[in-house]
Amino acid sequence: MRAIVLGFGYKCVRRLAIVLAKTRCRLTLRPFDLESVVEWGDGVFALLYKRMRWPLFKYSIASQNTVKVHGLVFPSPLIAAAFKSDVNMLGAWLDMGLGGVTLKTVMPHSRDGNPRPRMREVRIDAQPGVVNALGLPGSGISAFCDALPHLPVWKFNRPIGISVGGDSVDDYIAGVQQIDAVLKTKREHYYFEINISCPNTPEGKKLTAHFDLFSAMVAGVRGATDAPIAIKFSPDQATGDILRMVTEVKRYNKMLVTLGNTQFCSREKMDVSPQEFSMPGGGLSGPALFNRTLELTGLIAPLGVPVIATGGITTPDDVMAVLSAGASLVGMATVLVTNPYQIPRMNYKISRQR
Ligand SMILES: Cc1cc2nc3c(=O)[nH]c(=O)nc-3n(C[C@H](O)[C@H](O)[C@H](O)COP(=O)(O)O)c2cc1C
Repeated sequence: MRAIVLGFGYKCVRRLAIVLAKTRCRLTLRPFDLESVVEWGDGVFALLYKRMRWPLFKYSIASQNTVKVHGLVFPSPLIAAAFKSDVNMLGAWLDMGLGGVTLKTVMPHSRDGNPRPRMREVRIDAQPGVVNALGLPGSGISAFCDALPHLPVWKFNRPIGISVGGDSVDDYIAGVQQIDAVLKTKREHYYFEINISCPNTPEGKKLTAHFDLFSAMVAGVRGATDAPIAIKFSPDQATGDILRMVTEVKRYNKMLVTLGNTQFCSREKMDVSPQEFSMPGGGLSGPALFNRTLELTGLIAPLGVPVIATGGITTPDDVMAVLSAGASLVGMATVLVTNPYQIPRMNYKISRQR
């Protein structure tokens, strides 16, 4: 009940902030930038989290929701997909009942990402969603490694995923080696996720298109760490290609597959101008992805590699559907921003069915 009421309030405040920001842009003749509302919202959220943690953000997780994957213990199968590195948001979502989080993809070097505006709300096939073309901005792997062992999220004692990006096979292997060297002696509960499926960088999908490179990358990263590794596929890949690549992944120990990522959506399909969205297209996230996620989970899970179902999962029923299709873990991004109070409701539904 508390989650339903707070979720309603959260959605109202979020909608109001977007309407006010749009009105201000119309009056000042400036293009609307959803990212600035997100930044403002993150600030308010962090403040509330620090001041009112117990009444607003603390939820328990039923013990029967626990999932074990390759030695990692997740108190709930619900995890944050790689998309955020703000420690306040991640902490709040863990308090609300996530079993673990995957941090936003880290790239080898510092980068600003694509020009703004690069994020907007859309309706595709009558479904609400978000298209982003952030282009993996971040401070690069060296700064990341300095901060990583000290992040407050470790205190939850739940598995933390490190998403690694790159422009070449060597980038991925070096990234995993460098991060593993930092964590190996200091932290126990971590896994890697290899992001080979970003639609927003020029080289983002090279490995999904070249099987030999893919195969060399999997062998290389597997040799670089003893921690579990998930390979993150794209819903844009042909199903046959994903099946072939998962069969390759299955040759190695302690591997998972993440199905999937955002789906490419062109600016024409969004029906917006370059002033409203700077890039020719971006990655669609949200409910429109769900059918493809469910389809891929049902096809891949029987192969025996644990699946992190990701894409369009926004309701307790969605969660139950992918778990029934064989998913071990459930990754979510968009719903954590649009209504994180779905987390306790999802956990409740899982606990009732176990
Ligand atoms: C704003 C934003 C940033 C994202 N950044 C990353 C990223 O850094 N690495 C990654 O692998 N996926 C990234 N994603 C994709 C998400 O992890 C997830 O796969 C995708 O959004 C589909 O899930 P959803 O429908 O629950 O949002 C991002 C998604 C969004 C919306």
